[in-house]
Amino acid sequence: MNENKILRPTTIIIFGATGDLAKRKLFPAFYNLYIDGRMPKGFNILALGRAENTDEDFKSYIKENLEHFSRKKLTQEDWAGFQAHITYFRHQLDQDSSYTDLQKKLKDFDTIYGTRANRLFYLSIGPNFISTISNHIKKSELASDPKKDRIIIEKPFGHDKQSAIELNQLLSETFEEEQIYRIDHYLGKETVQNILAFRFGNSIFEPLWDHKHIESVQITVAEEVGVETRGSFYEQTGALRDMIQNHLLQILCMVAMEPPATLESGEIRDRKVDVLKSIRRIPADKVDHYAVRGQYGKNTINGFDAKGYRQENGIAPDSNTETFAAVKFYLDNERWQGVPFYVRTGKKMKEKHSYITIQFKPLPNSTFSDTQHHLAANRLVINIQPLMDIRLQFMAKKPGLTLSLEPVEMIFDYFVCQEDTPEAYETLLLDALMGDLTLFMRSDQVEEAWDVVKTIQEAWENNKDASFPNYKAGSWGPDESSTLVERQGDKWW
Ligand code: BG6
Repeated sequence: MNENKILRPTTIIIFGATGDLAKRKLFPAFYNLYIDGRMPKGFNILALGRAENTDEDFKSYIKENLEHFSRKKLTQEDWAGFQAHITYFRHQLDQDSSYTDLQKKLKDFDTIYGTRANRLFYLSIGPNFISTISNHIKKSELASDPKKDRIIIEKPFGHDKQSAIELNQLLSETFEEEQIYRIDHYLGKETVQNILAFRFGNSIFEPLWDHKHIESVQITVAEEVGVETRGSFYEQTGALRDMIQNHLLQILCMVAMEPPATLESGEIRDRKVDVLKSIRRIPADKVDHYAVRGQYGKNTINGFDAKGYRQENGIAPDSNTETFAAVKFYLDNERWQGVPFYVRTGKKMKEKHSYITIQFKPLPNSTFSDTQHHLAANRLVINIQPLMDIRLQFMAKKPGLTLSLEPVEMIFDYFVCQEDTPEAYETLLLDALMGDLTLFMRSDQVEEAWDVVKTIQEAWENNKDASFPNYKAGSWGPDESSTLVERQGDKWW
């Protein structure tokens, strides 16, 4: 959402700076923004960690990781400039004195800038530390200026509706809502942001964007990887909480929302909340009808043994955690009445592919509705990753002397326009530096999204699935996932 804007001096305080997210995403994003000249003129990154590290040790660790994870190549010159803005700061999350020292450090920076700088706190830590940090920030008055100080919170934001309400309540004791940036990195993806431009910047699609013309909508986020090193986290989370409650529902909101009157962040977020509110809640006794869960089992993929979920590190041998989830939602509003929205996500699937399919209705009657012409209804595919394109499928005459029709595709490919697009974290961090909340989740959005999945969550927690593992690593998920869409004559595209 960002446009070029002069940014005030800012100190970025990263809690958990020695963790995985910081090395893979945060430092690379700041480095790329720095190269692009998008960081504030005066900025410092204060990297907080428990370990006793020298500045030099920490910087060489960051440098090494930038070699692997930065979008742009690391050069001596850029690194020399960037590293001068990093300071390692030993910090104990639960000690008062650590926050007194932090306050002093922040004031030292302010003296150098010659002004009380903005402060951007990034909580790249486990959810159970949020309250400790937030309370200390309050007590030490580190974020005392609501106009200048912001906090970014990573997902998972709570683990169910009640805990999200409590977390929102806790944060509201220290921060105003405008200071809280709840991150969902899918909203920073170029292709997801483009949904807004595509829908509301063109006159040809919006008139067709409703139940009169659209048969169904499908959203797939398939991952090829398994749980990797995150077994203990994932065991408590599962696909519904890890992906559907946030990433997939956010994409659904982008597809289904009403046109916002302006691009103002409050307006856009209001329209998204409207969508979440209109999603029909699945009755507790109908969960099996509308939702499917799966867990991957071992398999041999291309001659290699692939572990099953229960064989991964940190996973119970009889685990009931789902690594796949598919749900059929309906929206009770004028635009979408009767249109199924199918969403599915899974780990260890056949391939990494995230995409949205808008399936249009078949023609009610056509010049070509005879048996020799097999008319495929129009379909629009928005590929989110790794392909990044938009494809419109329509019927055309097959070149030749006879009049026969075939489906063809019209493709808009991002990579043809620009080979290299910013990473989601670059977009989101820049927005946070600028104070633009549009792509971040408001408290009511998060709570509403938890409410949408509540009955599924409870049913799955209370009833073990005896069929686990029920799909093979390297497949498209359990058979029941196909049944979910086939019942209505659909299939996963
Ligand atoms: C994270 C989930 O939010 O998103 C991970 O916790 C998942 O389990 C990841 O792998 C997927 O993100 P991306 O950008 O790689 O599609």
